[in-house]
Amino acid sequence: MSIATIRNVMRGDGDRFVYVVSAMAALNGLLFGFDTGIISGAFLFIQDSFVMSPLVEGIIVSGAMAGAAAGAAVGGQLADRLGRRRLIFIAAGVFFLGSFTMAVAPNVPVLVAGRLIDGVAIGFASIVGPLYISEIAPPRIRGALTSLNQLMVTTGILLSYFVNFAFADAGAWRWMLGAGMVPAVVLAVGILKMPESPRWLFEHGREDEARAVLQRTRQSGVETELDEIEETVEKQSDTGLSDLFASWLRPALVVGLGLAVFQQITGINAVIYYAPTILESTGFGGVTSILATVGIGTINVVMTVVAIALVDRVGRRRLLIVGVGGMVATLAILGTVFYLPGFGDVLGIVATASLMLFVSFFAIGLGPVFWLLISEIYPLSVRGSAMGAVTVANWGANLLVSLTFPVLTSSIGTHWTFWLFGGCSLVGLVFVYRLVPETKGRTLEAIESDLRENVSLAD
Ligand code: BGC
Repeated sequence: MSIATIRNVMRGDGDRFVYVVSAMAALNGLLFGFDTGIISGAFLFIQDSFVMSPLVEGIIVSGAMAGAAAGAAVGGQLADRLGRRRLIFIAAGVFFLGSFTMAVAPNVPVLVAGRLIDGVAIGFASIVGPLYISEIAPPRIRGALTSLNQLMVTTGILLSYFVNFAFADAGAWRWMLGAGMVPAVVLAVGILKMPESPRWLFEHGREDEARAVLQRTRQSGVETELDEIEETVEKQSDTGLSDLFASWLRPALVVGLGLAVFQQITGINAVIYYAPTILESTGFGGVTSILATVGIGTINVVMTVVAIALVDRVGRRRLLIVGVGGMVATLAILGTVFYLPGFGDVLGIVATASLMLFVSFFAIGLGPVFWLLISEIYPLSVRGSAMGAVTVANWGANLLVSLTFPVLTSSIGTHWTFWLFGGCSLVGLVFVYRLVPETKGRTLEAIESDLRENVSLAD
């Protein structure tokens, strides 16, 4: 967040309130990050408590992604039907249930059930966090506010590394997994005090409530914004879920699905989930690897802050182009580092530095901007469902990469694996350059209107 943004926040009551609302909703991101990150550490000790087949081990680690894909598949429609706020409350409850089940699991089947439940909550949260914030935020700071969710994802991942570290000596995996209950309770209680999305309210015929929310969250322009929302709602009155397959919506669907897949197949979670393993292979000891991983997690948070400061000024497209371009370059370097002999003792240091650079470029581009754009480019009538479809693709691709990374490195080598991610990034760069629209500073209704009028999104 830039100094100017902080000053703006302090000036206006509307902005201050909308920051509190967004920060509360961004706890969805914190839980998403924490619950995906915590398993790497906890798993080491779970293996000491239970005898498991490799298949069951795989399900425990990647079960959350499968659960998240399932959660995302229904979460979008639930958000459209029940409302954004109610789904956040449900997600918090499911998070609590999943963490509790894992923490007290007496046997492997219960543990697996807990992990799948937790995954469903992650799926809900990954849609409804950015969706809710983008609908309640004023256009001028929507990018920064919505990206708070991604900032909390990265913070949650980092926090999970620390919690793992804190409980590692005692091997207390139940405490590691149970720790997720705390933010879940805060989110459940906090969201009850927050208003519903004004756009969802309007769409459900609750105009007065929508106006009241806008009055609390805007310094001016409430009636104009309401008129715009009304116009959009009127246009869509004859359309429904089938809109998702309408030809005018296709460009936006292609952009969302493409970004969803590129966000994952460019390899971020090979690094986020496997950094200690990658670093140990360079000759680093266990503790050094974990410390270097904390460094990688920290740079992920820091660079997301940089993205937030820039996203409403330089725009979404430019951040994506610089970010994905940088990933292409750093992946080429990473492949080379692992390919060339002769780095000897410094291999670990060079690899850590390259991984940090790679994560930095992800964090200023594909990390936050993917979640932001998919909450902006879909029409109100199908926003939840479209985000759901795109998010399922994101979790599916995540599952694919996290399951195949160990197989890839042992079959084609670490260097080729990074070059493969680099090749995917290069295709991703062309995709972004040619197809991704700029949405900076525009109302969600103006973005929708362009889409309906068939204006090429990338113009
Ligand atoms: C991605 C996650 C990833 C995280 C890392 C998110 O935007 O969706 O898969 O683990 O960023 O910061």
